[in-house]
Amino acid sequence: MKYFRQILIYAKPYKIYGFFNIISNIFYALFGTLAFVSLMPMLKVLFKSAEPINTPPAYNGITKLGDYIENSINYFITQKVNNEGELKALLFMIVIIISTFLLKNIFGYLAMYFITFLRNGVLKDVRNDLYEKTVDLPLAYFSEKRKGDIIARISTDVLEIQHSFLSILELIVREPLMIIFTIIAMLALSPKLTLFVFIFIPIAGFIISLVGKKLKKQSDSVQKEQGQFLSILEETLGGLRVIKGFNAEHYFNSKFRNSTARFYKFSNSLLNRQNLASPLSEFLGIGVIAILLWYGGSLVLVEKTLAPDAFIVYMGLAYNILTPAKAISKAIYGVKKGDAAAERVLDILNTESPLADAPNAQEKENFNTGISIQNVSFKYQDEYVLKDFSLEIPKGKTVAFVGQSGSGKSTIANLLTRFYDVNEGSIKIDGIDIKNITKKSLRNLQGLVSQDSILFNDSIKNNILLGVENKTDAEIIAASKIANAHEFVKDLPNGYDSNIGDSGNKLSGGQKQRLSIARAVLKNPPIMILDEATSALDTESERLVQDALEKMMQNRTSVVIAHRLSTIQNADIIVVLQKGKIIEKGTHTELISNNSVYKKLVEMQTL
Ligand SMILES: Nc1ncnc2c1ncn2[C@@H]1O[C@H](COP(=O)(O)OP(=O)(O)O)[C@@H](O)[C@H]1O
Ligand SMILES: [Mg+2]
Repeated sequence: MKYFRQILIYAKPYKIYGFFNIISNIFYALFGTLAFVSLMPMLKVLFKSAEPINTPPAYNGITKLGDYIENSINYFITQKVNNEGELKALLFMIVIIISTFLLKNIFGYLAMYFITFLRNGVLKDVRNDLYEKTVDLPLAYFSEKRKGDIIARISTDVLEIQHSFLSILELIVREPLMIIFTIIAMLALSPKLTLFVFIFIPIAGFIISLVGKKLKKQSDSVQKEQGQFLSILEETLGGLRVIKGFNAEHYFNSKFRNSTARFYKFSNSLLNRQNLASPLSEFLGIGVIAILLWYGGSLVLVEKTLAPDAFIVYMGLAYNILTPAKAISKAIYGVKKGDAAAERVLDILNTESPLADAPNAQEKENFNTGISIQNVSFKYQDEYVLKDFSLEIPKGKTVAFVGQSGSGKSTIANLLTRFYDVNEGSIKIDGIDIKNITKKSLRNLQGLVSQDSILFNDSIKNNILLGVENKTDAEIIAASKIANAHEFVKDLPNGYDSNIGDSGNKLSGGQKQRLSIARAVLKNPPIMILDEATSALDTESERLVQDALEKMMQNRTSVVIAHRLSTIQNADIIVVLQKGKIIEKGTHTELISNNSVYKKLVEMQTL
């Protein structure tokens, strides 16, 4: 239970509900026991077995409490029968029975009522924390993990934890209390018989725990598989166009089937084991009861030390113990499953973000002199993508990166925005290492238009507004005009309020790209990073956007990664990359005048 214990901290804000739940459960257990005990006066009336007592009994201290209560009941019954007749007395006893059962159930409901707030509160808070963590963790974390697995953890694992919160309170409060109260009543009725019960409870408990042993591991594989098939589903939905286009339905169908088949296997064995809890404990309980019946019966028939009505109530109580015992064994299993889920949830929550802001990181409000990349080496995994890379980017200049795909251009953008940290060397803005600047203020200085336009299922307006506040509609339109997006947006039926579908799928590639440019334009940052920002545009709109981008870049520092070389001819510095190294550097005219790699690239593209 070590993981689950850590999750318990989440119950803290809701402890008042836990408190009310415990109070209600105390009454629930009390009335649950009394409900059975209240059968006794009714039986006494029915069997006419009450000793006739005509004077009210005297209270002689706590040690004689049992006698006092019994005599009081007998006296009460004698009075009732004498004054109102047997049937009326019987009716009265039945009303008492109904009342105690009613109270038991009212308190049972109240207990559930209060615990609901705690359980759902924990559910809400754990989910919120998981989501926040997901947004906070670096990109690298998610290239390792499958998205579906994260989704499974946020949805079903958290639910599992929520369930086990009910189990844990049943386990430590409700059912033990029920058992304690019942045992007190049993002890009062017959200490001898009750001793018997004590011998068998530990034996039964041992057998039950034996069955529960593998439960956590099994639960873990079920949840893992759940993540697996959610991942497949998530990828399928994202790649439907390709799956259909390449007739790959069969491949994905069988991939999904394999996963659900494993899920079938794992959850069958989990559920079947878990389902053993109830029948096993009930049967073990009945075994104990059978022994009690034999031994108690002989006390009634042979020794005559136990009254038949007391014996019936006693057996009722013994049976009454079975329900909580059953519930406890079920709850133990529930908590074990919860522990497995908690482990998976904590696995995310306890992951320290390696890119967390340093405690002394400063807020950087403005950009004054330039960016310098000094002797940077970087690798995603084992192989260095950038090796001893150095470059100065003075303020107000445009630096363009060209080179084959895979040469490390996007990687430079990833490092400048600090999506990843350099392995060696440093990147400085105005002489300050970006590791010593808060990520928030660093990214405030930068505008990013990435290779793949990332848009969200929302209106055009909200997509452009992403992350900025206090912008007027006029400013949004102005930004869209610069990005050459206004043209098509104004023709949409709902204009800027049009929904663009999941990841903007209702738009063409070029339109999406123009929206993501508009987004960066509206943000108006001093540093612009464009990673093949115009690659999805046709020549016509590319020229228009290019115009706009150039206007926008005039007073700005820009890092432009270009696929089409015609778009970067006016750059102040053109850097040609090959396998993470700078092989050429200069202006367009300088590079063209030499017999450079750049010249060959340009010639290849103009052909
Ligand atoms: N998230 C990643 N994990 C591992 N390797 C990566 C990752 N992203 C890129 N790479 C590798 O880094 C190299 C440079 O990639 P990138 O900078 O994207 O090239 P490009 O110049 O085409 O933009 C490539 O060899 C690529 O395989
Ligand atoms: Mg790239």
